[in-house]
Amino acid sequence: MKVVTCIAPVNIAVIKYWGKRDEDLILPINDSISATLSMDHMCAKTTIMCSPDFEDSKFWLNGVEQSLESKRLVNCLQEIKRLASAEPSNAEMLRWNIRICSENNFPTAAGLASSAAGYACLVTALANLYGVKTDLSALARRGSGSACRSIYGGWVQWHMGCNPDGSDSIARVIEPSIHWPEMRILVLVVNDARKKYSSTTGMNRSVATSDLIKHRACNVVPKRVTEMREAIKTKDFNKFAEITMKDSNQFHAIALDTHPPCVYMNDTSHAISDMIHAYNEHKGVNKVAYTFDAGPNACLYLLESEVAEVLSLINECFPSTVAKSDYLRGIPLNIEKSSDDLKFAMNLQVNEPNLLKYIIYTKVGEGAQVLDGDHLLTMVGLPKNTI
Ligand code: DP6
Repeated sequence: MKVVTCIAPVNIAVIKYWGKRDEDLILPINDSISATLSMDHMCAKTTIMCSPDFEDSKFWLNGVEQSLESKRLVNCLQEIKRLASAEPSNAEMLRWNIRICSENNFPTAAGLASSAAGYACLVTALANLYGVKTDLSALARRGSGSACRSIYGGWVQWHMGCNPDGSDSIARVIEPSIHWPEMRILVLVVNDARKKYSSTTGMNRSVATSDLIKHRACNVVPKRVTEMREAIKTKDFNKFAEITMKDSNQFHAIALDTHPPCVYMNDTSHAISDMIHAYNEHKGVNKVAYTFDAGPNACLYLLESEVAEVLSLINECFPSTVAKSDYLRGIPLNIEKSSDDLKFAMNLQVNEPNLLKYIIYTKVGEGAQVLDGDHLLTMVGLPKNTI
């Protein structure tokens, strides 16, 4: 019997991945850049066990049994087993059935990059189980494109590559997490009832129908990647924020240019972006950057020095009746009252209560890691936590 448990982080892109040139290998049409978020507050955890005594292979996600037939899961498993079979001593273990148990420490339903953390965790655990020593980002990519960036901590670039077999479509660290220690992230989880198209469906449809997406991939992203790398390296927050917001908006413009359109942001998302622009204008320089993925939740990047004021502003514009202990998660902090001068100067728009579900306050963190014990499976390969 052999068992491995890993944890892996969420990442939030500041230059978005949107569009594939190869569906099966998951090869993108442009480079992307993200920050990896701290696993203290959001992470996936996976235990994988293999044993000659298991009569079958099984997979549980958040306590619910899942099919092992999904194409992406099969692709990850096959690729790792193919690499593992190069080592003759693995031959016997590769015939054993496996048990996979995964959990997220944040609500999957919140639409927060759970597949990226999940696949990064799965391939890290599998590669360790079978002793495969290769670039794990290329393996994670086969599960979900953005997952390749969650293998590493800090500021990460997914290089689109040009080889048809995808061998050069890998993630690389631009700067480690300690490089910009003041950087903070506020994730504003927005209340929303509408059903969204998944990223996979949305981006396939964009590639098939949007004219803008070609312009973005060929003419916009290459220059933006160079500028973003420079802004991160020199810790130029004003430039970093400008590119981050522009890139989020261009991605959503492409989602709307898709036919039929993919509408991911809602009225609350737009009200958040208006508030950030008003704040930056008031300050005369970009102090906060917003970015939105394939859903209405906002992810705000800002420096620690701005957090108290920005949080008080959010609280003023988006009042909440939810108990503070449940509303504000992540790094502990209090919500202070915003100053009347600021409210007046910004001509603040106060929205109806409870447009936000909760807020996660976090920072940039490390990549996927192997744990020493703390397994999610019992010795007989069954989940310790079931629903
Ligand atoms: C908007 O990685 O979820 O979050 O490769 O089809 O699984 P698949 O898509 P996925 O797409 C993420 C898109 C995004 C932008 C980003 O994270 O770069």
